[in-house]
Amino acid sequence: MVYGVILAGGVGSRMGNAEKPKQFLLLGDKPLIIHTIEKFSVHPEIDRVVVLSPAQWVTYTQGLIEKHLPGEEIPVLAGGDTRNETLMNAIRYIETQPGSDENTIIVTHDAVRPFVTSRIISENIEAAKKYGATDTVIGATDTIVVSKNHKTIDEIPERPTMYQGQTPQSFRMQRVKELYEGLTDEEKEILTDACKIMVMKGDPVYLVQGEVFNIKITYPYDLKVAEALLTEER
Ligand code: CTP
Repeated sequence: MVYGVILAGGVGSRMGNAEKPKQFLLLGDKPLIIHTIEKFSVHPEIDRVVVLSPAQWVTYTQGLIEKHLPGEEIPVLAGGDTRNETLMNAIRYIETQPGSDENTIIVTHDAVRPFVTSRIISENIEAAKKYGATDTVIGATDTIVVSKNHKTIDEIPERPTMYQGQTPQSFRMQRVKELYEGLTDEEKEILTDACKIMVMKGDPVYLVQGEVFNIKITYPYDLKVAEALLTEER
């Protein structure tokens, strides 16, 4: 089984929008999260889609899915306090579902990256089946500067070896669970990215080529860019 796991458990504090979390804001004629869910629900290799939203927004999210994607059976579950806890809530649910076994693949994706492509999803599935873990990246365009004291430069790594992480991140589900449950509370605080857990524990994570336009909506500016991208997509 291949599950699409849409992570929408955040509150979008950097968006500065108190009315509702950014995943529910309108992009064109429908909420951002609906654009993202659609990319997964129409994908031929995704067997089921699961959505996780903040606990107080679960009913609201269910309502949006009923309105915009009528007839689709897409469960909405409560997310957790951190992105990884949200992911673990998804895993705990998927494990209880018929057909879930040691080969189950989860393709985890930010609800606020609505421009993911069918090609990116397919390559994630293929690489996760083959290697166990994948991250979607694009080559860094700007030079990356490392400064631990935030005042002076410690290091300027070679740009050709630098990448920017996007999503999806895809995994053999059992392995992420096993590794996450073995972490100390301290490690959980530091390892906020699921791929970082794999890397720190010595599991290889394979790279899938993302797209420059597979942007994450973080700030109000990004929503303006997204509106322009949507016009182009159409
Ligand atoms: N996310 C999640 N559960 C959390 C935190 C984040 O599922 N506890 C999801 C967000 O909903 C988003 C994705 O992870 O789709 C990427 O996170 P980010 O852009 O940081 O979203 P927020 O945490 O909502 O934003 P902010 O950091 O500005 O508060």
